[in-house]
Amino acid sequence: MADGLRKGLTSYGDAGFSLFLRKAFIKAMGYSDDALNRPIVGITNTYSDYNPCHGNVPQIIEAVKRGVMLSGAMPMVFPTISIAESFAFPTSMYLRNLMAMDTEEMIRAQPMDSVVVIGGCDKTLPAQIMAAVSADLPTVVIPVGPMVVGHHKGEVLGACTDCRRLWGKYRAGEIDDIEIEAVNGRLAPSVGTCMVMGTASTMACITEALGLSLPMSATIPAPHAERFRSAEASGRVAAVMAKAKGPKPSELLTATSFQNAQVVLQAIGGSTNGLIHLTAIANRTRHRIDLDAFDKLGREVPVLIDLKPSGEHYMEHFHHAGGVPKLMAQLGDLIDLDAKTITGQTLREVVADAEEVPGQDAIRPRDNPIKAEGAMAVLHGNLAPRGAVIKQSAASPKLLQHTGRAVVFESVEDMTLRVDDPDLDVNADDVLVLRNAGPKGAPGMPEAGYLPIPKKLARGGTKDMVRISDARMSGTAFGTIVLHITPESAVGGPLALVRNGDMIRLDVAKRSIDLLVDEAELEKRRAALAPAVTPEWARRGYAHLFNETILQADEGCDFDFMREQGKD
Ligand code: FES
Repeated sequence: MADGLRKGLTSYGDAGFSLFLRKAFIKAMGYSDDALNRPIVGITNTYSDYNPCHGNVPQIIEAVKRGVMLSGAMPMVFPTISIAESFAFPTSMYLRNLMAMDTEEMIRAQPMDSVVVIGGCDKTLPAQIMAAVSADLPTVVIPVGPMVVGHHKGEVLGACTDCRRLWGKYRAGEIDDIEIEAVNGRLAPSVGTCMVMGTASTMACITEALGLSLPMSATIPAPHAERFRSAEASGRVAAVMAKAKGPKPSELLTATSFQNAQVVLQAIGGSTNGLIHLTAIANRTRHRIDLDAFDKLGREVPVLIDLKPSGEHYMEHFHHAGGVPKLMAQLGDLIDLDAKTITGQTLREVVADAEEVPGQDAIRPRDNPIKAEGAMAVLHGNLAPRGAVIKQSAASPKLLQHTGRAVVFESVEDMTLRVDDPDLDVNADDVLVLRNAGPKGAPGMPEAGYLPIPKKLARGGTKDMVRISDARMSGTAFGTIVLHITPESAVGGPLALVRNGDMIRLDVAKRSIDLLVDEAELEKRRAALAPAVTPEWARRGYAHLFNETILQADEGCDFDFMREQGKD
């Protein structure tokens, strides 16, 4: 197969002329024949003025280029979509598949022998890995790294677990306008991704466990010099892979590596979003994530990382304690150490190099975990025939078995309008229900599953309630929150049948979530549901494609035609 500049020639008649033309144009950039005859390493540029999480990308790119050139290959930087969590309307999840398609097609369309994808903010790493898996070109992933922590009145702060905690205090009247403004300037003190165990950190750890990035690359803080040395080393590895034409993602992503990723997802107290993304990545290979097997794993794998929101520390503490290699060392036989990584090393070799840090308490040993069971549990029941997820490690233990009266919100907008209404009929034992917030319903499955505690209850001291929805939740959030109820209400899932005052029973030990209404009544309600029509927002463009082809949460929310097997 052709390589370097000869790869994937644009067709202008004969191949010789096509190459002649390509070289004529690229020489306009001042490249020599020597440079153009080298193996090519493509490098994605996801820098954007809208994306502070990726604020160090230009410096990372320079370091990668240095590594590539020191190893005798030719770096070529190209732009792709950049998605920043809080600058993506309606949601970043809505755009993840667009970024995956963009990245995949640019990898395919342009000549390169390997590719370095640089990402980090929540949906970007999953999108890039989905793309790399489908393109199946040798790939090195570089997470941009977490922010360093902030400080406020002697307290350590982190985006965005503490954003939510302190906003909750503000809503409850415990913090005034002046203090919340001061906090606002201290929650994100540097570029980089959220420094708690949110989706960005979760996906970076999973990427390292999958062997797609260099050891320690998940945790090195974004502004640290070590981050750029790691990027240079990643460039070197990408150059070696370009020359060797491997390993490709299809060679690295085995059933074993997906199992390792699931173990790590549970052990880090990872984001529930991580499960959706890992499912989407697996579905682009011949492997699958089985929700029941994932739940079973959760009963065996303890949470070992003491990080917010499940614990106390932040990503830089995890890093200084030994990072993912040390975590995998502590997990022992739960990790299959024969799995291979991009460098050709096995995880056994990676773990053998893990640093021993005396006195550290961010990475716990297996006999002294943060939680005896894993981060997440998968629930089933008449409310969630195809499953739902709860991050039990960040929930209130006393609410894990709870029966309460439903207080229903029809949509995110309805919830926003009414949740703080002093006349809302709600008490602390009720179950807050949000629907029409799934992949199609909202659209884009917003991170609205963290329903706020109604102000009148928050002011009375209520800190947590059972909340259920077909939405997602930020990995940085906490509470007794059931998410990803599947099928979602917008496609007629049972969540659409719940009425105010119905009783709902959550039993995490039994892995169940049920609506305590008899089947005959539910059937009556089902028959009365309005038939689905194409919503106004989905009549054209990407929105149309999204609405027509988006899969449910249990299938990773990819487009149906993007899976390995294509459309059914
Ligand atoms: Fe970008 Fe949290 S907002 S990682």
